[in-house]
Amino acid sequence: MIKKYSIKELLNKGKFFINKKVLVEGWIRSFRYSIFITLNDGSTIRNLQIILSKEFRKKITKEITIGTSIQVIGIIKESIGAKQCIELHSLEINIYGSVPSSILQKTILQPKKHSFEKLRKQAHLRFRTNIFSCIMRIRHHMAFCIHKYFHENGFFYLHTPIITTSNCEGSGKMFQITTIDLKNNPIDYKKDFFKCKTYLSVSGQLEAETAALGLGKVYTFGPVFRAENSNTSRHLSEFWMIEPEIAFYHLEENMNLAEDFLKFIIRYILDKNMEDLSFLNEHLKKWKKKEKESLLKKLELVLKFPFQRISYTEAVKILIQEEKKQKIKFFNPVVWGMDLQSEHEQYLVDKYFKIPVIVFDYPSCIKAFYMRINNDGKTVRAMDILFPEIGEVIGGSQREERYEILLQRIKDTNTDKNKLWWYLDTRRFGSVPHSGFGLGFDRLVQFITGMNNIRDVIPFPRTPNNAEF
Ligand code: 4AD
Ligand code: MG
Repeated sequence: MIKKYSIKELLNKGKFFINKKVLVEGWIRSFRYSIFITLNDGSTIRNLQIILSKEFRKKITKEITIGTSIQVIGIIKESIGAKQCIELHSLEINIYGSVPSSILQKTILQPKKHSFEKLRKQAHLRFRTNIFSCIMRIRHHMAFCIHKYFHENGFFYLHTPIITTSNCEGSGKMFQITTIDLKNNPIDYKKDFFKCKTYLSVSGQLEAETAALGLGKVYTFGPVFRAENSNTSRHLSEFWMIEPEIAFYHLEENMNLAEDFLKFIIRYILDKNMEDLSFLNEHLKKWKKKEKESLLKKLELVLKFPFQRISYTEAVKILIQEEKKQKIKFFNPVVWGMDLQSEHEQYLVDKYFKIPVIVFDYPSCIKAFYMRINNDGKTVRAMDILFPEIGEVIGGSQREERYEILLQRIKDTNTDKNKLWWYLDTRRFGSVPHSGFGLGFDRLVQFITGMNNIRDVIPFPRTPNNAEF
């Protein structure tokens, strides 16, 4: 048996393989002078050069088109070309699936520059493109290091339900799920699968809180669903969220954790994915002509300084001052009590501080019921982390642990307390101060890869009017 290797293994160990017989499989990326095939198998951005033996040059050159999948058995030799240190001299080539050139021309596999919109329309094929495969590898490493971070810091991975009866965030629409035939009118939910109205969850936080109040430190990592009609470059209807929740934890500790966590992920990717980052760095610079700074510099800048921390009230003061000084005119004029819009967030991060910003102590009227009320009675212990380009990447808070006050907040926000009896119970049986946050995973992938649109960092995006694939 001849041993099979990935192209990454072969290229990483390079000279170790010289004169060894190996088997590789992959897709043809290019074919030049009827001799040189460049092969890629997805394991790395780099390609392996295959040298066709004389025998094959006559026999199968017609079948060797771009996109064709092949198996090659051959001997590794030192390469004389400057681009690579080794190449594979073929002894045997087997073709799995070919691509007729008439079809190739219609696909994004054709080797030329395609728009991201076009790649999205062929989402099932874009894993074979350089850019998208880089993004997917980075996405994997990010997910991996997130589990690593929490595991090494004593957190337990918690699986929270996807089907729920409550809306944790209060605002925004949810996707309802039912097994009832919707032709039946009127609908009797007592006859529905769960004997009540159920939805896809917008967040696992409430369940995670109950777990933290027993296990101490937990985190979730799963898909969440929001039926908001937000057709922007930062919103998905189905996205991935990581929600750590920690007992005996105050807001400052929560902010420290969130900052350390974000920096850990970015450092890990700079450390482990330089090959893919460098590729994106080079290619995105070309496409985003206005961008003066490189992707790598942008990532390093996040690591360099402590994040700027300011209260919501201070943030509003700065924005009003800047408006008065006529440095800027906002589309939505700033007043205390309003939710900060992306134009305000962008101004604070990209123009004013030029580093990530943590805004804390927001007005209670714009935040969810579970956040802890401050002594001023007007603000809550909330915190949002705002990043360059993408805006809010993390939203979190210290939770209201006082039963009576929480009950009042539930009433004030018109939340159905009957559905939350179990949540309220945790405040009756050994309640403790606790905190947590939610990281929008796809938004962080967007930031790290430098992509303009969140739809280009998730395999099959779900957005308003679009659930294909
Ligand atoms: O700020 P959000 O709504 O917070 C929560 O859901 C809390 N339950 C989290 C917690 O405290 N455990 O969402 C958290 C993050 C946002 O900061 C944002 O990065 C991301 O999720 N996010 C989205 N990402 C993509 N598409 C959307 N439609 C998003 N909505 C929020
Ligand atoms: Mg938020």
